Amino acid sequence: MERAAASWDAAGIEPVRSGPNWGSVGSGRGHSVVQLPALTLPNPVFPFVANLPATATSPSFMRQVNVAILGGGTVGGGVVEGLGRNGALMASRLGVQFRVNHVVVRDPKKVRDFEVDPRLVSTDWRRAVSDPETHIVVELVGGMTTARELVLAALRAGKPVVTANKALLSAHGEELFAAARERGTCLYYEASVAGGIPIIKVLREALVGNRITRLYGILNGTCNYILTRMQSERAEFAEILADAQKLGYAEADPALDVDGHDALHKTGILASLAHGFWVDVDDASVEGIRQVTPLDMEFAGRLGYTIKLLGVIKTMDASAPDKAKSSPRKGKVRGGMRVSMVVCPTLVPNRHVMASVAGVFNAVYVRGDVVGDTLYYGRGAGRSATASAVLSDLADAAHDLKSGPHLRVPPFASHEEDGALIPAGEVVSAHYLRLSVTDRPGVLARVATILARNQIGISSVIQPEGHEGGSVPLILMLHDAPRSAVDRALAGIRRLPVVAGEPALFRVETFD
Ligand SMILES: NC(=O)c1ccc[n+]([C@@H]2O[C@H](COP(=O)([O-])OP(=O)(O)OC[C@H]3O[C@@H](n4cnc5c(N)ncnc54)[C@H](OP(=O)(O)O)[C@@H]3O)[C@@H](O)[C@H]2O)c1
Repeated sequence: MERAAASWDAAGIEPVRSGPNWGSVGSGRGHSVVQLPALTLPNPVFPFVANLPATATSPSFMRQVNVAILGGGTVGGGVVEGLGRNGALMASRLGVQFRVNHVVVRDPKKVRDFEVDPRLVSTDWRRAVSDPETHIVVELVGGMTTARELVLAALRAGKPVVTANKALLSAHGEELFAAARERGTCLYYEASVAGGIPIIKVLREALVGNRITRLYGILNGTCNYILTRMQSERAEFAEILADAQKLGYAEADPALDVDGHDALHKTGILASLAHGFWVDVDDASVEGIRQVTPLDMEFAGRLGYTIKLLGVIKTMDASAPDKAKSSPRKGKVRGGMRVSMVVCPTLVPNRHVMASVAGVFNAVYVRGDVVGDTLYYGRGAGRSATASAVLSDLADAAHDLKSGPHLRVPPFASHEEDGALIPAGEVVSAHYLRLSVTDRPGVLARVATILARNQIGISSVIQPEGHEGGSVPLILMLHDAPRSAVDRALAGIRRLPVVAGEPALFRVETFD
């Protein structure tokens, strides 16, 4: 099969031929104008030490790379704006001048909140992708159907694709990366996880010499915003959610965020990248934040914890390889790397840095076997933060067009074909359990008996005083136990006549 181009000339990328200040770019068909000041070119020997002044002959170094932006919404608009603001800076750093040659939207009549030449705007993504002048395709349409179709079309045409679409990658990543590999091109996805935090680059390149033994992520800004306010205001989930929707921090349909699926998609992408086998998120356990109450915030606080929606990825103890074979997944022979992955409300010790990640911010805490513990923090979503990640991918894609993507660490290296997620029931953790019980003698003993029968120890108990015969909360901190044992015990506890209402169960993370 024909392979994608691996040099400027083979990719049809022309030197910039405009005047000495590079000011006028584009083919005359209309373009997003990036006015460039007098430029300096990267010093080819020590690019970080000094720049060379542009000379009359320097256009042969500067290349123009045409970018089709499919999706002109929040992120697409941010990318056009970012190129307008910092196109000249990027050109001086990279020797590449980006030119937006298409902006594809659903409704071309809609008034846009960014400046774009109307001649570039269309609804025809096929034309944008197949345009021989398009060198890089940026998918910012969202969703699965059109997005999958257009990403595959671009990759099959040998064109690099940049995407921010975590849902698409989570569902179809394996297929898309295979299509890119087959055509010798590349799929870039920095913007799909944690917005402005360059965590994909960290895992792919900076920590390439490490086995990633632990990864903890606060990866959904909406959930973190809601939980932070619930904690500080002791307010109900529904109340804060409604306010977050008014302020634009939560979607009209918040399910993807508050039920944990958005964080699950991102955690799955990080797990796949860190562990080198494609992680099927359907095999992982996910719980959202709807069941967290101000009461839980209060008791967690009394016990020294803050509640966060945490994505947790852990490699299992190498001493348990045989168990892996007993848990085959989807017919694959198992025996390689065993990884646990969960996304759920989690009690984080207040002394741990992840407890202080507040509001819409995201953070990823990564432990490598060589580097130790590292922390990455920033805005996990939003127009500019996400656009910044897309710009970074554009720079990599442009350089890969010159040298070929094979010179870099692949975007997804399947180095652990035999790896597998362990089933959710086998994941071991400590837990916080809140029950609503009738205030009468012997209740705690009955609950403790059921827990003991399932080999679950209790590390501490809070039982506020109530009125005899009335309902009171009973909070138990449970020692490490497999989730299946905890679920079994919970089923028994629910049946006790002294237990009223739905128990709340959250993981407790020790960061060991
Ligand atoms: N927003 C964020 O903070 C953020 C952060 C990280 C990742 N992402 C991801 O980035 C992607 C884009 O998100 P967004 O927030 O920018 O979405 P958005 O504001 O809804 O924008 C989507 C854009 O795609 C266009 N579009 C939708 N369907 C189309 C179709 N079938 N054909 C042509 N154009 C189509 C829309 O056109 P119209 O404008 O005409 O409707 C709109 O311009 C998503 O995958 C999202 O998950 C977003």
